Amino acid sequence: MTRRAIVRGVGHYLPERIVPNSFFEDLVDTSDEWIRTRSGIERRHFAAEGETTSQMAVKAAQAALENAGMQVKDIDAIIVATTTPDLTFPSTATMVQHGLGMERGFAFDVQAVCAGFVFALVNANALIATGQANRILVIGAETFSRLLDMTDRSTCVLFGDGAGALILEAHAGTGTNEDRGILASDLNSDGRDRDMLFVDGGPSTTGTTGVVKMLGNQLFRRAVERLTETARHSLGKAGLSDNDIDWIVPHQANIRIIKGTAKKMGIPMERVIVTVQDHGNTSAASIPLALSVAQSEGKIKRGDLVLTEAIGGGLAWGSVVLRW
Ligand code: ACO
Repeated sequence: MTRRAIVRGVGHYLPERIVPNSFFEDLVDTSDEWIRTRSGIERRHFAAEGETTSQMAVKAAQAALENAGMQVKDIDAIIVATTTPDLTFPSTATMVQHGLGMERGFAFDVQAVCAGFVFALVNANALIATGQANRILVIGAETFSRLLDMTDRSTCVLFGDGAGALILEAHAGTGTNEDRGILASDLNSDGRDRDMLFVDGGPSTTGTTGVVKMLGNQLFRRAVERLTETARHSLGKAGLSDNDIDWIVPHQANIRIIKGTAKKMGIPMERVIVTVQDHGNTSAASIPLALSVAQSEGKIKRGDLVLTEAIGGGLAWGSVVLRW
């Protein structure tokens, strides 16, 4: 018997306010056409004043619980992937724990920027595989709009807010790649690339939150290479190849990165989940948001082989292969 972590439920939350590309035309020298053609983004959601990452995460978690037919008492642990915590501490995960009314178990945050959800998923899988938890809420949640310099056209048009959640549950598998659940994963980071994407503030440097700085063009090229590499590593570990994949659910940073990676892997775009047009780049929330939307649209179904991959600040990147 192999202890597998299978997906039991998925849910998401998007703030009410939808911000079209035209909003930025009044702020910086840009156009709807530039944003659409260079990034694929048409609109994004921004959190309301006072709306926090943990509040959005709670709503996504409640949607996932409902989707799984579970209650809070069924959950053993919460992992929140976020770069935009409510406070420097305590963790956003413990605030979500409280917000859900959960009085037992444990909760912690994972910080790997846009790759955060993949890192959180791999951590949750390890906790389940080693018997430390049976059911884990894995959440990606961001109020990324709070890190934007609204005078920097190269970054402010790209990001959005939102939250997505997934419930993993221990399940007895056979140990083959026919099993449901997480089959293989691959994590990487390289701190030498720090300056490609970072925030210029923090508690132990400036004492402020800071704003996003990005060398978008360099990052773009690096992203396609790294994402293809990590996808192949995960598939190789699972004894699978590119052709076996039913769905790629990529981090939603830029439609051109998504298309470039799919092309390198020989996967047609019909098998790629794309939400970047509606959400923008929601950092750690983008993959669970895309998974939730894809399931609710009837695209991803039980038994499908799903590959998720992401890259973000650090740089940090990775992938997970799972059977839904
Ligand atoms: N509107 C109009 N023009 C713009 C804008 C804008 N919003 N932003 C930049 N430009 C200009 C630039 O100034 C430049 O002008 P110049 O030629 O006169 O110097 C020109 O457009 C081209 O700029 P590039 O940066 O070369 O444009 P590119 O085609 O690379 O697209 C983009 C930029 C969308 C940022 C792209 O590089 C990208 O998506 N990069 C990767 C982002 C990413 O993967 N992030 C990953 C993780 S995010 C995370 O971890 C938080």
